[in-house]
Amino acid sequence: MIESPLKEKNVSTKQDPNFPVFNAMESRNHEQVVICSDPETGLRAIIAIHNTTLGPALGGTRMWMYQTEEAALKDVLRLSRGMTYKAAISGLNLGGGKAVIIGDPHTDKNEALFRAFGRFVDGLGGRYITAEDVGMEVQDMEWIYSETKYVTGIPETLGGSGNPSPVTAYGVYMGVKACAKKAYGNDSLAGKRIALQGAGHVASYFAKHAAKEGAKLFITDIYSEKANSLANEIGAEVVSPDEIYGLDVDIFTPCALGGVINDDTMDQFKCDIIAGGANNVLDIEDRHGQMLLDKGIIYAPDYVINAGGIINISSELEGYNREQAMNRTQKIYDTTLNILKYSEDHEIPSHKASNILAEERIASVARLKSKYSSKSHFSGRLGEMYMTDRR
Ligand SMILES: NC(=O)c1ccc[n+]([C@@H]2O[C@H](COP(=O)([O-])OP(=O)(O)OC[C@H]3O[C@@H](n4cnc5c(N)ncnc54)[C@H](O)[C@@H]3O)[C@@H](O)[C@H]2O)c1
Repeated sequence: MIESPLKEKNVSTKQDPNFPVFNAMESRNHEQVVICSDPETGLRAIIAIHNTTLGPALGGTRMWMYQTEEAALKDVLRLSRGMTYKAAISGLNLGGGKAVIIGDPHTDKNEALFRAFGRFVDGLGGRYITAEDVGMEVQDMEWIYSETKYVTGIPETLGGSGNPSPVTAYGVYMGVKACAKKAYGNDSLAGKRIALQGAGHVASYFAKHAAKEGAKLFITDIYSEKANSLANEIGAEVVSPDEIYGLDVDIFTPCALGGVINDDTMDQFKCDIIAGGANNVLDIEDRHGQMLLDKGIIYAPDYVINAGGIINISSELEGYNREQAMNRTQKIYDTTLNILKYSEDHEIPSHKASNILAEERIASVARLKSKYSSKSHFSGRLGEMYMTDRR
């Protein structure tokens, strides 16, 4: 077995409470953290590059009102690491990165701020490629794009891939079907009862696939008008947000926020399968992943089955092709089945199985790169080779 370069370490350096960056980076193997400041525009941003073994670090920029700088740092480190695993398990030649801009997305936005941020991204020469995340809108991405070509998820009118949600939802649908295959021996969703949490972008597209196949859906959203409108469109039943966990259903599909599989909800689940689009659904990954295994609930790791979005934007780097993105997303079905098999064979929770398989891919490619090839001087990590010239 190849030793994973991502294995978490106990860091020996003395913790400096006033400067927690190196310890935080080293404990999770982050390569680089870039602190970006531009007082003129009010820009305070952090770019974190977790691992670039497989390729340039790709991950969105999040704008959020972090209460402390440390909270922003923690978030960007956690999110960028997650992107490494998501890209690796999805078979993409991309590393993991993420950026956060500290500020109120409702009041602190201006053109100069995003252009300043774009210049910092550009300065990394393609080691980090950004995209849209929470708190960001198309206009913001266009401003960043005016300063750097290392941006994905830009509008179709600018040669980008546009809204990733339909592709994400298709991947979730593939992941749910793979879980059905594992649980019931065939992957049909006809007649299956599905509790869908959220009636937003991903949930809506997912619901249409499932309803078309004959599933019976129960939908909730904190905005009841959204749940009603989706339910009317596809012929589903609306339930209250609190009711969704304890419904007598076959499948629970979380497509709202993270942390919903926790100590309070765990005992309520009566389903055979949990598989959805929301990120970080396990409140405490190891604890709640193990509890699902003990309860005999099949869990599709979130970052595996919601990878359609990153698969879609990664296709932009080679010249966007929707059909190719959908075909790659379809493979989430096989990836999910592989992970569930590994989990069963090794008697470990599926999120752990997925992490191990992602780490093995990275380790094997890292070893490959130790061999000299004619391309070795041309690092292969710079992103430059992935980018079609857009100007
Ligand atoms: N959009 C993508 O391509 C994509 C890609 C990967 C992961 N995800 C993840 O999927 C999830 C959904 O993304 P989206 O783009 O559809 O977002 P969205 O904002 O369009 O939809 C989320 C919906 O969840 C509802 N909601 C929030 N809290 C709720 C609660 N407690 N109970 C019921 N409903 C609640 C919101 O009102 C909203 O309608 C997020 O976790 C996101 O991080 C999205």
